Amino acid sequence: MKCFKLNFILALAWPFLMLSSCSNSDTNTSNTNVSVVESVSFDEVLMSRRSVRSYDATKTISEAEVRELLIATQEAPSWANQQPSKYYVAMTPEMVEAVSNLVGERNKQNIAGAPVLIVSTYEKGKSGFFRGEQTNEIGDGWGAYDNGLSNAYFILKARAKGFDTLIMGMRDSDELRKLFNISENEEVMAVISLGYRSGEPRQPEHRPLEEVAQFF
Ligand SMILES: Cc1cc2nc3c(=O)[nH]c(=O)nc-3n(C[C@H](O)[C@H](O)[C@H](O)COP(=O)(O)O)c2cc1C
Repeated sequence: MKCFKLNFILALAWPFLMLSSCSNSDTNTSNTNVSVVESVSFDEVLMSRRSVRSYDATKTISEAEVRELLIATQEAPSWANQQPSKYYVAMTPEMVEAVSNLVGERNKQNIAGAPVLIVSTYEKGKSGFFRGEQTNEIGDGWGAYDNGLSNAYFILKARAKGFDTLIMGMRDSDELRKLFNISENEEVMAVISLGYRSGEPRQPEHRPLEEVAQFF
């Protein structure tokens, strides 16, 4: 009888025990049943994420922290789950310097002090294709689309963890390909700086919603 009572109490309490044991582990990516609690709200992440063009050179970021951000990109949707995005992470001072020389003079100045630079690419012929045939007029554009989604997850997760980023489309793709030995089968997309902001970034103006959205 005692045993029955204990089982009954445990059965009732089990969901609460599970929740409390999981709420602190925001790095547990395998548990999809529990909503992940970050210390800032999603809206705060969206509103405080800005393109940061001035970095605090005294702060560093560990490989484990970068890995956590890259794991977040794997939650992004992609065409038929093709997951075409790939990342090349420069973390040593030599590699960071080498990449910063390939984003143009203005970008180079703006990302000075960012401890990590990441090149994103996508594998061609995957998203937008079925059995080697292009599915519609967009073709490999879907690979670029998926890469953008993946990068969006990266920059938002980065912000949620207190980091800052700048996506750079101005970059020398040929030299980056050589530097990281990137296959011709991949399209080199953006370079993303990762670091900590020094000072408050510029607030961009946004177009009125009426100009960009139509309701029918
Ligand atoms: C695909 C892409 C390429 C970009 N390239 C650059 C770049 O080379 N240099 C730069 O300073 N900003 C670059 N940006 C950042 C945009 O200028 C920025 O997102 C925009 O002005 C809005 O500001 P916000 O990101 O702070 O909201 C790029 C953004 C995207 C999405």
